[in-house]
Amino acid sequence: MNMIKITLKYLMMLVLSLTCIAGCSTPAGNNASPTGPSAPATQGDKKAILVVSFGTSYNDARVANIESVETKIKESFKDYETRRAFTSEIIIKKLAERDKLIIDTPDQALDKLKKEGFTQVLVQPLHIITGEEYDDLVNVVNKYQTSNSFKKIVVGRPILYSIGGKYSDGREYPNSYAMAVEALKKQLPALDSDTAVVLMGHGTPHPANASYACLQSVLRDSGLDNVLVGTVEGYPALEDVKKELAAKKIKKVILMPLMLVAGDHANNDMNGDEDDSWKSQLKKEGYAVEAYLHGLGENPAFQDMYVNNVKDALAEMNKQ
Ligand code: CO
Repeated sequence: MNMIKITLKYLMMLVLSLTCIAGCSTPAGNNASPTGPSAPATQGDKKAILVVSFGTSYNDARVANIESVETKIKESFKDYETRRAFTSEIIIKKLAERDKLIIDTPDQALDKLKKEGFTQVLVQPLHIITGEEYDDLVNVVNKYQTSNSFKKIVVGRPILYSIGGKYSDGREYPNSYAMAVEALKKQLPALDSDTAVVLMGHGTPHPANASYACLQSVLRDSGLDNVLVGTVEGYPALEDVKKELAAKKIKKVILMPLMLVAGDHANNDMNGDEDDSWKSQLKKEGYAVEAYLHGLGENPAFQDMYVNNVKDALAEMNKQ
């Protein structure tokens, strides 16, 4: 009788230790994650932050502008597993073929999180405006919400979101335009009256293109009269900016991307040697032109804005 009891006891211990080996081991290396093993806060709740950007095929820019933000988010929210997704399938394909670098789309990353048993997911876009890319991401998240894939899943704000205030449902927003202008100040040089900074935003036919005009207003109200906003694919266009430069009798222009990454648009549309680049067009009109080839993701103040947006979205999620 005693022997059976002892054997049972050892069997129990063996089962318990085996369970622990299976359940407590670090998940196998996931090459889609830039951030290493998961660190669930409490048992039963596995929490993740999925950081989503358009992506870039410029390796240095990816490290400086995307990885830098991901790392800051990871270090600020240690109870959460931080993962990466890109929305551009062209860039994902290019990186896989050229560099054997495998990066998930938001859908793929969320499927993996679901499969791995994550229960709470915050999706934080690194977008600048609430444009088409942001809408697409919200739609992806809605899909996972509707299918009850996670206990909770929410989306964080991009950079330009609200002028601040309280919604009728009680949600409160900070003035993200004022915050963005403060962040821009960290990278703006002191300007003489005949020198202007021209920020190159992406621009879009999406209604959120109005964000650029709002930013221009807030810049002006902050006394930054010689900081002008233009866009590649929306309004204001470079033609509109040129009129403003002439009216202000500007002689020197410093071009600066109003984008997360100084990638293709910054290197070609803004600073390329082709005749139609902003640099070439402005030079042709007699302006002295310089370019600042750094994306907003390199600026610690913008990194902090993203961290702050994660914090607010997590607070919102915890209220649910
Ligand atoms: Co583009």
